[in-house]
Amino acid sequence: MKKDKIILGIESSCDETAVAIIKNDELVANVISSQIEVHQKYGGVMPEIASRLHLENIAVVLDEALKKANVKLEDISAIAFTRGPGLIGALHVGLQAAKTLALIYNIPLIPVHHLAGHIYANEFIENLTFPCLAVVVSGGNTELVYMKEHLSFEIIGETKDDAIGESFDKVARVLGLPYPGGVAIDKLAKEGEHTYKLPIPLHDDSLNLSYSGLKTAVINLVHKEEQLHHEINIKNMAKSFQDVAIKEIIDRVKKASERYMIKEVVLAGGVSANSYLRSEITNLFKDNDQIKVIIPPIWCTTDNAAMIAKVGSYLYDKGVFADLSIGVDPSWKIEDYASF
Ligand code: KG4
Repeated sequence: MKKDKIILGIESSCDETAVAIIKNDELVANVISSQIEVHQKYGGVMPEIASRLHLENIAVVLDEALKKANVKLEDISAIAFTRGPGLIGALHVGLQAAKTLALIYNIPLIPVHHLAGHIYANEFIENLTFPCLAVVVSGGNTELVYMKEHLSFEIIGETKDDAIGESFDKVARVLGLPYPGGVAIDKLAKEGEHTYKLPIPLHDDSLNLSYSGLKTAVINLVHKEEQLHHEINIKNMAKSFQDVAIKEIIDRVKKASERYMIKEVVLAGGVSANSYLRSEITNLFKDNDQIKVIIPPIWCTTDNAAMIAKVGSYLYDKGVFADLSIGVDPSWKIEDYASF
């Protein structure tokens, strides 16, 4: 009888401790323990606290996932874990859990790139079609990734400074909104108007982006208005900032689609939950029957281990494994995917 292919995924790169199990290409468990409420008190993720909470939660989450999937550790074919990018201490907890299980049960390890996970999360909706453009927009990264085939990643444009999610979070903080700021800005922008004049971040012909200048412009404007005892219209500021931030992405995606032959555009990462980005990217290609747009389900826009197990499943088929000497890489570039 053919043995089942069972991939255990472990994700711990930031503030979610997650374990998922894919059995013969079906997602049979997807357990996530979010630390967001703890970090909210500090207005952002506290790395030391994140590591400690991963340590407390990982065994509980693993146990729950195994029970949900009705799978025993002895039956696991491979363990896919997030090797990077992410917070070093947080990544180490996932790695050590993966290594411990690998050693005890003699299971192969598969290192997975966190952003590859976010891209492949789209496969819970539909299989990717190549060549494909992945628009990776998260709290730590903003990049356009060209994929000519499975597991092939070429960065064709990226932020020169801050990530888009980081700028949403910093702008939200100066407006007195809770962490994660993107969610609050998205909500308030729906009721606001674009009344504040903000700079267009980067004027060049490349596919690169920049968010530091836009973020600083908002912060300076807010401080100036405060000094003048003028009230800030938070809804209008949210709308003005979001318009500029998202239009940057749309402009680069448009250019990329004109310069590269692509059949599909997929969104990936935390900011892909943004409702304005979702509608603008859909509008951009609505009359283009050559390019399909895939938008991930909201549950895939936040960190989870299902997406890690999904990439792990492809790497398992390709025979890509690591030995027990593998370490984490907090700034692993998606292009260096094959080097570990
Ligand atoms: O992918 P993710 O968890 O971060 C990294 O792993 O780096 O994404 C978190 C980011 C935060 O910056 C958060 O503010 C942003 O995604 N975000 C949003 C929305 N929901 C989450 N940004 C804009 N609009 C949203 N609806």
